[in-house]
Amino acid sequence: MNFDTPAKRKGTNSVKWDSEAIANIASNPEAEPFWVADMDFLTDPDIRKTGLELAELGIYAYPDFHDRLESAASHWLEAKHGWSVGADDITFAMGMLHGIASTLELFTEPGDKVLVPSPMYRPFRDIVVNNGRVLIEFPLSYDAGRFYLDRERFQKAMEGVSCILFCSPHNPSGIVFTEDELEFVLMEGKKHGAIVLSDEIHSDLVHPGFRHIPMGKANERIGARCATFFAPSKTFNIAGEHCSFVHFSDDGMKKTFIAREKAMKLAEPSIVIGELTITAYEKGLEYNNELCRYLGGNMSAISTFLKDNCPEIKAANGNASFVTFLDISSYYDKIEHEVLSDPGKYKGGQGGGILSRFFGVNASAAMNDGTWFGDDWNHFVRFNYGTSRENVLNALSRIVDAVKSL
Ligand SMILES: Cc1ncc(COP(=O)(O)O)c(C=O)c1O
Repeated sequence: MNFDTPAKRKGTNSVKWDSEAIANIASNPEAEPFWVADMDFLTDPDIRKTGLELAELGIYAYPDFHDRLESAASHWLEAKHGWSVGADDITFAMGMLHGIASTLELFTEPGDKVLVPSPMYRPFRDIVVNNGRVLIEFPLSYDAGRFYLDRERFQKAMEGVSCILFCSPHNPSGIVFTEDELEFVLMEGKKHGAIVLSDEIHSDLVHPGFRHIPMGKANERIGARCATFFAPSKTFNIAGEHCSFVHFSDDGMKKTFIAREKAMKLAEPSIVIGELTITAYEKGLEYNNELCRYLGGNMSAISTFLKDNCPEIKAANGNASFVTFLDISSYYDKIEHEVLSDPGKYKGGQGGGILSRFFGVNASAAMNDGTWFGDDWNHFVRFNYGTSRENVLNALSRIVDAVKSL
């Protein structure tokens, strides 16, 4: 794979590269996209080959995968994470958010409290609130570029909570939780009779030298009621296919979930989702290892660049995936003054904010505003480095020039 040469994505139905969507958050339709969490790399050559074979086939009628999908997922969990789970204990779901929303709806009641660590991936808030549950936002502790879970505060926040919605590794910071931290979260869940839902969509992209522990694996020693969600989507850049899987810690939860999915007619993957996923999980480990090395290299390059050129901007202490949270607080007041003094120049729609508009206009870089992850995170932007190192460093250089020219 040549990750130094990203794919040309403009005009390919990509929301990340859509000028109107970019202008909405960044006040500049021409800004280069470093926002939506997909990568600018082509997927694994074997997956592309499967796509080409499907195109040749020319018939996309009802498939029957028997247990090939779940078997492929089981093979992946063992090969990638050393977690032995039988195909019978893995259930297909039409995307992570669907699987999480459905589980939340089935195993909690309206009015129940759901604790979500923040900064939080925005749709988590929507799932909780739109399903009539009460959101308990638990801000991760933050100190000069370092995010961490404060156990004492977490224990206090758990009072009356029925569900913990965890993101591991964490989006947007990229932090990888230790086994000890996961066990602590599970024990808190168990103590309070709360279910623990773990979104692990970013788990296959942990950088060299770090290790992801699936929540369900950690739970084998704890015995909380737990659901672990995972997917090939971020891993292989096939997120638009909306394929995910869930592992439930207890059989009752699994049966209830499957019955609901069948009742709602949501249990059947399309032929394209199925075949791409089977190829990904059976043949994709080499591509994945190479990609993790490249992304780890991008993250190191970001840290080094900022340390050398603008130590006032800090990247989060993340070691997974291709997003990082940049702390712009040293320049925030000046930026806010600039943006508020010229509303015509920095206009935009929902989803953007002071920082995303400032950098869209002055650095031609479209990033997610920190407020998308919770109101308290307005001093941050999320930067997507799932593209060539050259693009990443050029964008950072423009970002640094923009703040220095204030
Ligand atoms: C943490 C997290 N969960 C879920 C999703 C979306 O998953 P899906 O498209 O499969 O619903 C994303 C996408 O960015 C994500 O970052």
